[in-house]
Amino acid sequence: MGKYLIAIIGASGYTGGELLRLFCFHPDVEVVSVTSRQYKGKSVSEVFPFLNGCYDLRFKSISEVKDEADFYFLALPHGVSMLHARKFLEYGKVIDLGADFRLKDIEKYRKWYGDHQDTDLIKESVYGLPEINRENIKNAKLVANPGCYPTSVILGTYPLVKEGIVEEPVIVDSKSGVTGAGRFPSPNLHFPEVNENFNPYKINGHRHLAEMEEQLGIKLIFTPHLLPIDRGILSSIYAKTKKDVTLKEIEEIFQKYYGNEKFVRLLGNRAPHVKDVRGSNFIDIGWAIDGSILKVFVAIDNLVKGASGQAIQNFNIMAGLPEETGLTSPSLFP
Ligand SMILES: NC(=O)c1ccc[n+]([C@@H]2O[C@H](COP(=O)([O-])OP(=O)(O)OC[C@H]3O[C@@H](n4cnc5c(N)ncnc54)[C@H](OP(=O)(O)O)[C@@H]3O)[C@@H](O)[C@H]2O)c1
Repeated sequence: MGKYLIAIIGASGYTGGELLRLFCFHPDVEVVSVTSRQYKGKSVSEVFPFLNGCYDLRFKSISEVKDEADFYFLALPHGVSMLHARKFLEYGKVIDLGADFRLKDIEKYRKWYGDHQDTDLIKESVYGLPEINRENIKNAKLVANPGCYPTSVILGTYPLVKEGIVEEPVIVDSKSGVTGAGRFPSPNLHFPEVNENFNPYKINGHRHLAEMEEQLGIKLIFTPHLLPIDRGILSSIYAKTKKDVTLKEIEEIFQKYYGNEKFVRLLGNRAPHVKDVRGSNFIDIGWAIDGSILKVFVAIDNLVKGASGQAIQNFNIMAGLPEETGLTSPSLFP
């Protein structure tokens, strides 16, 4: 079998760049097209000098991308993917890294993101969180890759909800590095304003709440914070338990759901660190008990397990490849 041909639509941003970095050492893939409006005509290594030597490709416009790939990765802002997904589905399979096809509840989409131009396609999309939805991903044509915060929060909470051991609402306090906001920043994301600063934001409601609540089926209280680091998410999840639980019981529950998962590392009664997952597709989960409150701590790299690594994990599943192909690199340390 030859290599799978890949097009990356919106390849000049952070998640597009991360797809290119990860695909550079994926053995079963050839990236054939990359798009950008502002860098059209420039080579990949001009836009991303860190990829010098990996690709002999130039950015083109989306309209120039034809039936030339098996998989189309959309690394576009929400509201833009929905304008292009249908065309690329005629040519091959589509993995959208944005929010356009994640929410099944269209009214929720409208509330948090605005109008939707292709609601019929939402019905066909499969939520791409492999650890809880692998069977559906296998045969999907359109995968909605989860959001970065939701990846950490859903995987940290899902086993507790399924086992029915926690009460609503679950309180979630998440912190993200600045790349979570994309490569083309606004003044509040400028270095002097982020460096040596730390603040909650969207304190009256963040759009990822709808995705997390839809997937988990419970009420959450969620506050995101901006961390002065480039990549990484740390989510601290607090839940009142319905009855007294022990650390061993929590270990057994997480083992039941994730014991065989390649990318989930269960730390037991230890705190995860964002530095331990940096650049990798791992998700580290630790926990503690404080009386009737269970505390779960989750670390991911927002650009890898929170975006491009997870998209490649989904691609591997859809292509029938071993799920960890091209994703086994350990974290960068220090
Ligand atoms: N950053 C994260 O940690 C993260 C995590 C999970 C999911 N996501 C989601 O993944 C998607 C991409 O995120 P990102 O962080 O990579 O964003 P980004 O750095 O802002 O990159 C966006 C890409 O889309 C292109 N683009 C922007 N507006 C466009 C338009 N109107 N038409 C065509 N192309 C357009 C940009 O290139 P040109 O401007 O040159 O065309 C660029 O290549 C977003 O939906 C985001 O919510 C991001």
